[in-house]
Amino acid sequence: MTTPAGSSNGPLLRVEDVSKHFGGLVAVNHLTFEVEEGEILGIIGPNGAGKSTILGVISGFYPATAGKVFFEGQDITNLKSHGIVQLGIGRQFQASTLFMSLSVLDNVYYGFHLGYKTPVWNRLLRFPSALREERELRARGAEILDQMGLGAVKNEITKNLPHGHQRILGVCIALATDPKLLLLDEPMTGMNQTEIATMLELVRGIRESGITIVMIEHNMSAVMSLCDRIVVLDHGQEIAEGLPWEIRENDQVIEAYLGKDEFLLDD
Ligand SMILES: Nc1ncnc2c1ncn2[C@@H]1O[C@H](COP(=O)(O)OP(=O)(O)O)[C@@H](O)[C@H]1O
Ligand SMILES: [Mg+2]
Repeated sequence: MTTPAGSSNGPLLRVEDVSKHFGGLVAVNHLTFEVEEGEILGIIGPNGAGKSTILGVISGFYPATAGKVFFEGQDITNLKSHGIVQLGIGRQFQASTLFMSLSVLDNVYYGFHLGYKTPVWNRLLRFPSALREERELRARGAEILDQMGLGAVKNEITKNLPHGHQRILGVCIALATDPKLLLLDEPMTGMNQTEIATMLELVRGIRESGITIVMIEHNMSAVMSLCDRIVVLDHGQEIAEGLPWEIRENDQVIEAYLGKDEFLLDD
């Protein structure tokens, strides 16, 4: 047995000197950080700091302008997004990308096909094994929904779900791709306190199931209680990295947020 280079003792993910320009705008500027297997890494920073852009580069949504991304030691820079999903990086789906007129379970079922090269219709022609496979995938989808607290609404039409449930469904679709690394972009936005508490528990549960997590989040008390380590971005660059308490007391971090009411350390 051979193991892929870097998989046994290197970081799970390494972002190495990555820049991303949109025309003349530098959204991410020579950014380097690592994600260790098993951790929950938080990414915070003011609006426009480049947080969503770096997740877009990691997941193959945007090509990097410069720099490299390594996953389990393998260079994945500029692989297409379906190839990156196949390797084990899942990205939470935003409410705007859900199939609103389909059932909750159908949305997760769709998630199973995201990492496949062969189109769904092509696979479905392979009758009858396709039927058995569909049954198995639906059962697995129902299992994911149960784990994430949506089992009772699996046959509801998605548009009828409350906002908080739609966001959780976006995570369920990512889980259907069987990720080793899950990328979350502000999973708690627009949620009430009860929904936030639920999401915190769900994210902890996902990590306990063995999935590493990178999470962008504005809600500081959520970030501070959930994350093992935090990377702070400002103007596309890392300005601090450390344990939650270190970040909370970091002068440069406080400076970057100063006068911005979004930095709600005490909420
Ligand atoms: N697709 C895009 N095209 C052009 N500019 C973009 C695009 N996406 C993001 N930007 C710009 O890049 C910068 C970083 O954006 P973003 O990564 O969304 O920040 P954050 O998620 O930290 O709020 C912003 O100035 C934003 O306007
Ligand atoms: Mg963003």
